[in-house]
Amino acid sequence: LAATGASAAPTGEQSSQTASGDTFTVMYGSQTGNAKGVATQLHSRLQAAGVNAVLVSMADYKPRQIKNETHLAIAVSTHGEGDAPDDAIEFHEFLASKKAPKLANLKYTVLGLGDTSYEFFCQTGKDFDQRLANLGATALAERVDCDVDYEAAANDWAEKVVAFAKSSMSAAANNVVPITEAAPTVASQYNKQNPFPSALLVAQKITGRDSVKDIQHIELSLEDSGLQYQPGDALGVWFKNDPALVEELLSLTQIDPTTVVSVKDESMTVSTALIEKLELTLSYPGFIKAYAAATELPKLQELLGQPAELRAYLAERQIIDIVRDFPAALDAQQLIDALRPLTPRLYSIASSQAEVEDEVHLTVAHVDYQFNEVRHQGGASGYLTTRLEEGQEVGVFIEKNDNFRLPQDGNTPVIMIGPGTGIAPFRAFMQEREATGADGDSWLFFGNPNFTQDFLYQTEWQAYLKSGALSRISLAFSRDQAEKIYVQHRIIEHGADVFAWLESGAHVYVCGDAMRMAKDVEEALLEVIKTHGKRDDAGAKEYLVNLRKTKRYQKDVY
Ligand code: 2AM
Repeated sequence: LAATGASAAPTGEQSSQTASGDTFTVMYGSQTGNAKGVATQLHSRLQAAGVNAVLVSMADYKPRQIKNETHLAIAVSTHGEGDAPDDAIEFHEFLASKKAPKLANLKYTVLGLGDTSYEFFCQTGKDFDQRLANLGATALAERVDCDVDYEAAANDWAEKVVAFAKSSMSAAANNVVPITEAAPTVASQYNKQNPFPSALLVAQKITGRDSVKDIQHIELSLEDSGLQYQPGDALGVWFKNDPALVEELLSLTQIDPTTVVSVKDESMTVSTALIEKLELTLSYPGFIKAYAAATELPKLQELLGQPAELRAYLAERQIIDIVRDFPAALDAQQLIDALRPLTPRLYSIASSQAEVEDEVHLTVAHVDYQFNEVRHQGGASGYLTTRLEEGQEVGVFIEKNDNFRLPQDGNTPVIMIGPGTGIAPFRAFMQEREATGADGDSWLFFGNPNFTQDFLYQTEWQAYLKSGALSRISLAFSRDQAEKIYVQHRIIEHGADVFAWLESGAHVYVCGDAMRMAKDVEEALLEVIKTHGKRDDAGAKEYLVNLRKTKRYQKDVY
């Protein structure tokens, strides 16, 4: 894969690429995959223009290699309080450190992804721009800071970068024959901007009636869409907000629902805008600031002056809760301008087209809870599980994820770790492996609160075990006993076998909660490598880094 191209060049030596003409390095630091998407697009366009371009994740990049670069485009996101994504931390710190080399020969450009409702908007992109400039590099195109709806700005940026590369890079690079697609596929006309109206076929609760969770199996139709996906891909869902929520919001702000407003130069009623175009089921500082300014409520102004209280306040609330706490008459357009554009939600696909053809299946946890004695639901999960009726359509698109792929060789063993809804892509993996007659061993680690209530797709796993398609299953039902048992405990318990599988070439996949589960599972894997692979801390880390670099350790976590 091209992704390892730049980092493969030994540090401290002249890059082999520069000897044969200039290379254009496209680098990304991604948290949710958007920066990676932007970088991948740019890389393809550079290649199509005949530029010798390589694509690399900051996670795989040796920072010292930077001194060999001549042309660099960075796409990087920002999260939290202006923090760099995990994958970007090392490179970000290196450029600010004393070790950073002078970069007088480097031409670069940066695209930052962020969210204008946060104080440190696109901070990481700004940092990279500043640090590269401080080291003597020159900008080949001006930095672009993108808000949540980044596509158009990213497209313009890519166009400028390609134009620059074509006009200024060496003749050798320009003589490269454009790479043609290896296997031309007919691209569907449907994408994120032009989603396919997909009919809901099935929405079925798959947790028991006494479960603490409402998890639903969703089936959607892709008939006549031309859309194709691979196991590991996600489905983007353009959900609609709850009309009842919108009605209440309009009543609290004393706005007539038929008032016409403008959203990105499009006119529509305020009611339609709130249902289809704007985010209502999250809360974000940008809203409360704009709402406070428009309503001039002293109590809100006071809250805004107390960052810690404000953060705690927002963490528990959706937009509607803020307006419930501080109702005030508002101009319709002011309300619209205070809200941020609705973004589609991504769900890991739970089916393989080898099995379900023109359907796509999802495993959706319905976010549904009481707060201040009022029911609250997640935007997309509430829409898919309760508001959308069978036969009705929802706008969808495929979000490719080349970082979560079955091994090409069906004989390669796979270890799949997916508690909760993290099970989804492994259902797709098993369907694919069975349909293609893959012979490799497979081992599933699954966990959820209770065996009787939450064993998702239980009969399917049992059938796979019986047919031999699934070699082994390890279950962790956390609340069936006094002590919590999680998937990572099972990994440690079966450590000797897990390590033996790794040594025999197994690929390891982790899907589900990023905050705690994926971190704890990684710790468990390190523990297993130390104990059964007889390595020290550093040795175990290196073993895991190697797995990651050879694409044998892949995560789809959220
Ligand atoms: P719990 O809710 O009983 O604590 C899917 O959500 C499963 O993941 C649940 O059984 C949940 O257990 C469990 N879980 C919670 N925190 C976890 C962690 N840090 N690592 C692994 N599993 C976890």
